[in-house]
Amino acid sequence: MYDVVVIGSGPAGYVAAIRASQLGLKTICVEESINEDGKLNLGGTCLNVGCIPSKALLDSSHRFYEANKNLAEHGIDIKDMKLNLSAMMKRKDEIVTKLTGGITGLFSANKVESISGRGKVLSKNQVEVVKSDGSLEVIDAKNIIIASGSSPIEIPAAKFGENIVDSTGALSFEKVPKSLGIVGAGIIGLELGSVWSRLGSKVTVIEAMDTFLPMADPDIAKDSMKEFKKQGLDIKLNSKLTAAKELKNSVKVTYNDSGNNVEAEFDKLIVAVGRKPNSSNVLSEKLDIKLNNGFIEVDKFCQTSIDSIWAIGDVVRGPMLAHKGSEEGIMVAERIAEKHAEVNYDLVPSVIYSHPEIAWVGKNETELKSEKIEYKVGKFPFAASGRALAVDQSVGFVKVLSDTKTDTILGVHVFGPAAAEIVQQALISMEFSASAEDIALTMFSHPTVSEAFHEAALASNNQAIHIGNKSR
Ligand code: FAD
Ligand code: NAI
Repeated sequence: MYDVVVIGSGPAGYVAAIRASQLGLKTICVEESINEDGKLNLGGTCLNVGCIPSKALLDSSHRFYEANKNLAEHGIDIKDMKLNLSAMMKRKDEIVTKLTGGITGLFSANKVESISGRGKVLSKNQVEVVKSDGSLEVIDAKNIIIASGSSPIEIPAAKFGENIVDSTGALSFEKVPKSLGIVGAGIIGLELGSVWSRLGSKVTVIEAMDTFLPMADPDIAKDSMKEFKKQGLDIKLNSKLTAAKELKNSVKVTYNDSGNNVEAEFDKLIVAVGRKPNSSNVLSEKLDIKLNNGFIEVDKFCQTSIDSIWAIGDVVRGPMLAHKGSEEGIMVAERIAEKHAEVNYDLVPSVIYSHPEIAWVGKNETELKSEKIEYKVGKFPFAASGRALAVDQSVGFVKVLSDTKTDTILGVHVFGPAAAEIVQQALISMEFSASAEDIALTMFSHPTVSEAFHEAALASNNQAIHIGNKSR
């Protein structure tokens, strides 16, 4: 009898399994993915076809773009530069192999057992594993953690095929598409659109909503839309794909752009309209556990209606982010070990790894207004940051939102260099209920782009040094 069986080895599942084992619980992880050699493939979406390979390509494509477009003004002339896409892909694949192999090492160092096959919860203490040869094994465990993740949504108007691909396909094109259509101006559309645009594709993004990045701070949405367009992404809002037909080497699409039917042909079409939870076939029909829109219903501690069964990561409510799943994994492992862990869902950071990056934590102005919370705004542009100018990254700003009465920081929104890292500093301060004044009284190294966070905090109390103050 195991103490814990985890279904799925993505960032939610593998982290839960490691923590459970660290806490002295006998733990096994079931994973159905196998690699080309027929070996167990750990790491889930994040390591194999998500966070890591996309960031590897974002970095490589950014270097290519910089070398191509921006180095001359630094006095660096490069002659005869050319793209070696297969070398770029090889680098990405090697990083993935290294990291997924690393999980195998972490499992053995932490005494987590693993088993290859498809897991299904049969009862409150039993998981059935269907192995790749069809044989069955039943694992008995005191606790079951479901971490089966999510998969790309397919839409009826554009069935996946040779040239109509999901994010996984878009991470492995063998040549740079001359023209690339993307359905969905969400995080995947913008990140992968940036990759291929930098490498030379003419990118058209077809977005159904009439608002760009509705989940982001409205100023950031506005400024970043301009920047994406400047970088070559032709973003069409209020546009709905109505049909897509695979041709031999291209895709013919029809979309409705603000009421007008438009026909277009792209070499490739990426469909990135969101992801759906992997909840079908993971629970026996006999179990009284509810699904909500496909998400397994859990309480704030990720416990289902059956005490011994927990669910974490993309398969449950909340943002589909690796770090959110990992923190849930740690919380659940600790609660199984009878510790008092919880996740602070108010402070889940979001990052879009564009150039410049977009990142935020806490509430934005739209949310504060709708919740009728009185707030102050402190904003500092990177154009006034010495370091940002020196490193040629002066687009964007830091915005600090704080409570009018208490000065407590309610949200920090950054569009610009090292946005993700700056937001992480903000998040740590917010975990300790920092006020804008606390940040204002903190010393920041000079010259750093983080000084923009310091100045934005100062600006929220009309004390910024390097810009004129305007109270709002
Ligand atoms: P997953 O990572 O999806 O893992 C689930 C695992 O369970 C898989 O290995 C699957 O094979 C296995 N499984 C499923 N069903 C069964 C079963 N019945 N039996 C056995 N095994 C099963 N998030 C970020 O935070 N930052 C990023 O930069 C980022 N970039 C992304 C880029 C892309 C292109 C994509 C697609 C996603 C990105 N994400 C990012 C999202 C992130 O990958 C997910 O939020 C995260 O992987 C979810 O973790 P998880 O463990 O819940 O599920
Ligand atoms: P998304 O939810 O971010 O964006 C999907 C977009 O597609 C939305 O703007 C939506 O309005 C649009 N859309 C939906 N149906 C449409 C249709 N029929 N026609 C045109 N547009 C349509 O989903 P996405 O980009 O697929 O990413 C999935 C998830 O993966 C993200 O929500 C995020 O949680 C995670 N992710 C996180 C990353 C990060 O943290 N940097 C990077 C990539 C993915």
